[in-house]
Amino acid sequence: MSKTIGILTGGGDCPGLNAVIRGVVKSAIIRHGWQVIGIEDGFDGLLDLKKCRPLSLESVRGILPRGGTILGTTNRGNPFEYPVEQGGKIIRMDISDRVVENIRTLGIEALIAVGGEGSLKIAQELAKKGVPVVGVPKTIDNDLRETDFTFGYNTALETATDALDKLHTTAESHHRVMILEVMGRYAGWIALESGIAGGADVILIPEIPFEVDRICAAVTARAARGSRFSIVVVAEGAFPAGGDRVVAKGADDRYTIERLGGIGQYVARHIEKCLDMDVRVTVLGHLQRGGSPTTFDRALGSRFGTKAVQMVADGEFGRMACLKGRTITSVTIEAATSDLKLVDPAGEIVRTAEDLGIMVGR
Ligand code: F6P
Repeated sequence: MSKTIGILTGGGDCPGLNAVIRGVVKSAIIRHGWQVIGIEDGFDGLLDLKKCRPLSLESVRGILPRGGTILGTTNRGNPFEYPVEQGGKIIRMDISDRVVENIRTLGIEALIAVGGEGSLKIAQELAKKGVPVVGVPKTIDNDLRETDFTFGYNTALETATDALDKLHTTAESHHRVMILEVMGRYAGWIALESGIAGGADVILIPEIPFEVDRICAAVTARAARGSRFSIVVVAEGAFPAGGDRVVAKGADDRYTIERLGGIGQYVARHIEKCLDMDVRVTVLGHLQRGGSPTTFDRALGSRFGTKAVQMVADGEFGRMACLKGRTITSVTIEAATSDLKLVDPAGEIVRTAEDLGIMVGR
């Protein structure tokens, strides 16, 4: 039976989004003969019908290796707390009824929401209002529960590891401490796994508050062993024991979430005080979100996209496609967004790092 489904991409962009969109469009049309409506700029697109357009096989041609999202995205527009100007002030209003009405006007019978924790929570709220939604887990941070991996994470890891390889040459030639600040928000996955893969000497993650003295001792011990340089990877959400996270910009009227950044410089300043070595900081930033997705993310995104369509066909609403081991399956969006999936400080990956002689800040 013919159906019309909608797809949107919400939150920060991420390599592999186009693979998901292509997977949804192709399987909806080729396997089921359905129509697909692409919604621009995340949930914002559902407030403006001009931002909703049919997606054909033609419109997804050639997008598989492309970074970003052909639909556009935003990490601001939450229809349940929408920023509206009133009397010169920004207030937050619940305008979700308009979203639900527009979904009906467009004839969308199921909505596929591709996003991280924030976007999937919005999708879950829409589900409570009777919208049939299916979620797809996206984020370079890999911090969504109930899925072994989110798509985008693998590409971000490759970028961070490549940066560490490149930083090694200057570190070694100039006998310096090179610090790489990576993304990940409150989770240390990118720092931890790229640090292991890129041969870092120190890895600092939010899950293990760090002691600056111990970092200095580790760098000094390396120098005593003849290695006159060190590589430090620091997650943007890492913070010193007894101290605070470094925030580049706090939440405001437009952004309800704080922007992290600056911990690399903090660590550099403190290391310079206790060591007689040159220290340099590189902030990898949005390079981690850009570029062509890796083979892993293209395949994972394609599998998530086709799974989401199958979930619509099976009436599996309020659920999110996920990866468990090597199998694509599904879980409730509620379980996936109940809290963040963080690194276990006593877990196997941290232990691997320590067994390799990497100092993890404690
Ligand atoms: O969640 C993805 C992410 O890239 C985080 O790692 C980072 O803290 C944040 O988004 C940056 O967001 P923005 O693009 O708004 O600066």
